[in-house]
Amino acid sequence: MAPHPGFFVFEGLDGSGKSTLSRHVFDLLSRKGVPSICFAEPTKFETGLYLRKFLSGELELSGEEQIGAFLKDREVSLQRNILPALKEGKIVLLDRYMYSTAAYQSGPEFSAQEILERNRACGFPEPDLLFYLDLEPEQALVRLEGRKEAKERFESLGTLEKIRNAYESILPENTVRLDANLRPEELADLVEEKILLVRGKGR
Ligand code: TYD
Repeated sequence: MAPHPGFFVFEGLDGSGKSTLSRHVFDLLSRKGVPSICFAEPTKFETGLYLRKFLSGELELSGEEQIGAFLKDREVSLQRNILPALKEGKIVLLDRYMYSTAAYQSGPEFSAQEILERNRACGFPEPDLLFYLDLEPEQALVRLEGRKEAKERFESLGTLEKIRNAYESILPENTVRLDANLRPEELADLVEEKILLVRGKGR
């Protein structure tokens, strides 16, 4: 990609606190007057709403169909959200990206590495840094049980363990591992510092 202000991805198990963290980081950057924006995948576009139906159990999809649907939504996410924002000079904070498809859709049919390669073959750009919120599956489950919303598809201990192992097998070199047990404010400070370092280098 051409020089840009920074593309940062947040990954981790359901319940690891990605959304809270990206919002805190957005607030910190905004307070300093640094232009930034938060997005998430699945998107809020039609391709993402279709995936929400799968995630809530309203719709069944085969493994291949799941991967195809997440790739399709990712293309929309890039074309409509991420790339225009980077072009406008904004730092992009993205809650889940191709590493989620690799970790969540991997299994006996497809390895996490294979799924990651498929994403790369679509030309999806690598982020500048990937912030991985590491959390024990047992703790993730406790946090998820405390939530009021309906249980989503991947919320069982065995599945969360599989997903965590898959993440461990594919996290790239530019991953910043974070302990999800730290306080949100502490995590946000750590992340903001890393982001501003990358941004400084790009200028
Ligand atoms: P997320 O929005 O992080 O969860 P929540 O709705 O609790 O805020 O993610 C929604 C779910 O989508 C999550 O269980 C992981 C799943 N997912 C995949 O299985 N593959 C993917 O490629 C992505 C982006 C998400």
